[in-house]
Amino acid sequence: MNKVKNKKVVLAYSGGLDTSVMIAWLKEKYGLETITVLVDAGRAAGLEKLRKKALAIGAAEAIVVDAKEDFAHDFVLPALMANALYEEKYPLVSALSRPLICKLLVQVAHKSGAGAVAHGCTAKGNDQVRFELGLRALDPSLEILAPAREWGMTREEAVGYAAAHNIPVASTSGAPYSIDENLWGRAIECGPLEDPWQDPPEDAFAVTVSPTAAPDQAATMEIEFVSGEPVAAGGEEMPLVDLLNEIDKTGGKHGFGRIDMVENRLVGIKSREVYEAPGALALIMAHRELEDLVLPRELSHFKRLAEQKFTDMAYNGGWFDPLMDALRAFMEETQQRVTGSVRLQFFKGACRVSGRKSSYSLYDYGLATYGGQDAFSHGAARGFCELYGLPLQVWAKKRTLDRGY
Ligand code: ARG
Repeated sequence: MNKVKNKKVVLAYSGGLDTSVMIAWLKEKYGLETITVLVDAGRAAGLEKLRKKALAIGAAEAIVVDAKEDFAHDFVLPALMANALYEEKYPLVSALSRPLICKLLVQVAHKSGAGAVAHGCTAKGNDQVRFELGLRALDPSLEILAPAREWGMTREEAVGYAAAHNIPVASTSGAPYSIDENLWGRAIECGPLEDPWQDPPEDAFAVTVSPTAAPDQAATMEIEFVSGEPVAAGGEEMPLVDLLNEIDKTGGKHGFGRIDMVENRLVGIKSREVYEAPGALALIMAHRELEDLVLPRELSHFKRLAEQKFTDMAYNGGWFDPLMDALRAFMEETQQRVTGSVRLQFFKGACRVSGRKSSYSLYDYGLATYGGQDAFSHGAARGFCELYGLPLQVWAKKRTLDRGY
């Protein structure tokens, strides 16, 4: 570590206990100057205060980046086009923001001539993998430091270290949860949630009300897509970032969007995870529904396979893998006709699709109806069944002959 270029390190800063302690620790242990980068990918608060905090602890420079737009367009949108739900449940909230943070860290490292980058992840999570694969892909020459994996401090020891170095500890450091949030949702871990049998306490949630406390009146919201991108909600056109907030608000108010799951982490641990992501879940539901209306069968079925690969790659830190570039190109190609509207209804913790329409709809009333305007060829169906069932029929006849009865 003594060889780090210019003795400068760029740190992915959250303002929390660990990354705050890191600023002092990196100086004490390795004599490194730290440049902190705090990335706002949505729902971040008190940014200026955290910037000042980093400087007060001894950071050489403290940078805050408003990356909401980039996050929405370059990470959330491709994930929406891929209907990405890890293990069919988790909309990749944290997994999507890590590659964005990597990009920004590398940019700052290049500008400042820093030879190393550092993150605050521990040894047990997926995020360390996402950071380190992302950083290696973007600039393999940068040294990567993971102090929290190295220093072996318990939470109490870290608090003690902070006190000894005059590092202010936020009052929330007493909260039992570890939280990561952005535009696409909120991840809640630790504390009472570590027992998979324990019902998540209400104080774990910040975006959604309890479904039991949701209004008695349902809410309806129409979402409009153009080539796979949501462009309007409730009849009002708005930028993607605002639209995500809007759907989040409506869903959250009706107690929709809570996820409680046992998740397979890449590092081999089964972990109990709780999320709230009303906007993400509602948008994926609506987007998938529109695709069902406009995509032909073979494309629709094959896309499911590609979606799963995309999701696993993103979850496992492979955002910058060449396969991801190819998968993103595939997803985009499929979205050309994903234009139209889906109507959602939120009610007491649930969200359902109550209607869908598109000028590219492949739904043909004449083919589908059982009524008088039926245009389907009933005669052709007879021949279809005969030929489609031919191999089975040949096999069954032969079996009868072989058995002799
Ligand atoms: N289990 C989720 C994931 O791997 C959430 C991680 C939340 N990260 C955190 N640092 N609290 O993506």
